[in-house]
Amino acid sequence: MPDPLLAIRPRLQQAVAAVLGPEHADADPVLRRSDRPGVDYQANAAMALAKEAGRNPRDLANAIVEAADLDDLMEAVEVAGPGFINLTVRPEFLAAEVEATAANERLSPLASQPETVVVDLSGPNVAKEMHVGHLRSTVIGDALARILGFLGHRVVRQNHLGDWGTQFGMLIEHLVDEGWESSADHTIGDLNALYQAASRKFKEDAAFAERARGRVVDLQAGDPETIAVWQDLVDESERHFEIVYERLGVTLTPDDYKPESSYNPMLDDVVSELEEKGLAVVDDGALCVFPPGFTGRDGEPLPLIVRKRDGGYGYQATDLAALRYRTTEVGGTRLVYVVGAPQQQHLSMVFAVGEMAGWLAAPARAEHVAFGSILGPDGKMFKTRSGENVKLNELLDEAVDRAAAAVAEKNPELDDAERAQVADAIGIGAVKYADLANDRVKDYVFDFDRMLSFEGHTAPYLQYAHARIKSIFRRTEAASAPGPVLIEQPAERALALQLLSFDDAVQQAAEHLQPHRLATYLFELAQAFTAFYESCPIIRADTNEQRTSRLALADLTARTLATGLDLLGITAPERM
Ligand code: ARG
Repeated sequence: MPDPLLAIRPRLQQAVAAVLGPEHADADPVLRRSDRPGVDYQANAAMALAKEAGRNPRDLANAIVEAADLDDLMEAVEVAGPGFINLTVRPEFLAAEVEATAANERLSPLASQPETVVVDLSGPNVAKEMHVGHLRSTVIGDALARILGFLGHRVVRQNHLGDWGTQFGMLIEHLVDEGWESSADHTIGDLNALYQAASRKFKEDAAFAERARGRVVDLQAGDPETIAVWQDLVDESERHFEIVYERLGVTLTPDDYKPESSYNPMLDDVVSELEEKGLAVVDDGALCVFPPGFTGRDGEPLPLIVRKRDGGYGYQATDLAALRYRTTEVGGTRLVYVVGAPQQQHLSMVFAVGEMAGWLAAPARAEHVAFGSILGPDGKMFKTRSGENVKLNELLDEAVDRAAAAVAEKNPELDDAERAQVADAIGIGAVKYADLANDRVKDYVFDFDRMLSFEGHTAPYLQYAHARIKSIFRRTEAASAPGPVLIEQPAERALALQLLSFDDAVQQAAEHLQPHRLATYLFELAQAFTAFYESCPIIRADTNEQRTSRLALADLTARTLATGLDLLGITAPERM
């Protein structure tokens, strides 16, 4: 096991059990990396356990240290402050762990209990051009799907395309009015405009609104003329989504499309099951379930509407059918919904009804991976100057253009093809990394200058650190290959410790569904490498042993950066 935490943790647990009794054998030693000088790890076990055990934390810490068998791993174990246990790792142990990690192609062990994780991500809407609003769900969802898959889970991606609501009645009715033939000579941009015209007409023209409502019922009942127009819209939209996914380097394929409409045939079963279980009630003509604990602003219980008064099914009903499908048909035990924070209540209600109906039962559970908004430079929702949604394709064009200019300046030797490739990696990587690098629940300001900077918590900084190591290897050629690891200098120790924490960072990101934990880790790794590179010459090292050891550290750093960036969906070019 590469991460020293994995070696140290059971030893501390044994010591705790020896001191407090075997019933404490599973106690969490609360072990973390430490950034105190000379201290590598710190355990808070004593502080966490003292109260319960009725002991003084410092005495307890001393007793644990006394009982712990850590000599082969630790150079020093000391009790500090009110009861912290400070641990300093033996350099030989560190070196051996780095070598073991380097020898493992995966860099990190697989999950001990793999499960089926269903990741609901992206979910753009048919007949609408993808805008910046769908960037986060797509990018965060893709990173989580990659991370969970890397850990050995069976990941089932579900792109819950919005292709089935009232809005399609409106749009189709409008298209029929306009004498629609086919989308062949239309772009997704036209659809966007038609959609806007339809929704204006819907608001202004009551007779049209009535026809539009009827059209939804026709659609959901499978009327051939209606379905033909609808299918045409879906096809055109999917062509557009594919282009965007391809550009973004997102692992979504048409196989992952599971649109709202695909749940239509399941809705009757959903309804009858809810009725059989006595959960569905008719309220004002609509079929509803009232999950306990949800009330509206007026304090009245809030319904999840399964079937509307006019017989149509809406967003709530399809999401309920989707949840049922994901646990019962797909076999998912962890359902992950990467959906914006404003849909929190909707999803909580769907989860609650799913539990009531028995479709969401332990060990299965559902988690809403909520995220904040992307803001413009003015701190308000990110919009164009004229107040429209920012189109994702246009945003990516600008990022790549700006990256191309930076690359041309930094590395004029690259030929055109490689420059274009590198600009793509940097431009797209910068946009994605800016989205992933901060705690997802927070809003962030979209800022090209900042995200494309080669300094700071950015993709280009990490990509550059990786490319720099690759250039060292190009220069040393076969003269020196990575060799056994020696840990002598503080910067080598710090880099080694950081390298060995990769596993923990990936696990944390997966457990909390927070890609920023991995992003932050990679940033700290690049920083540790920079500090190491400044104080520990590689090619001009004093001895051959030092040189080959430092090459080994550099090589593992490059691999870890490339692997970590790949888990975030970002490419690491060989040169920049
Ligand atoms: N199409 C929805 C939207 O644009 C997102 C779908 C999210 N997934 C879900 N299962 N509801 O808001």
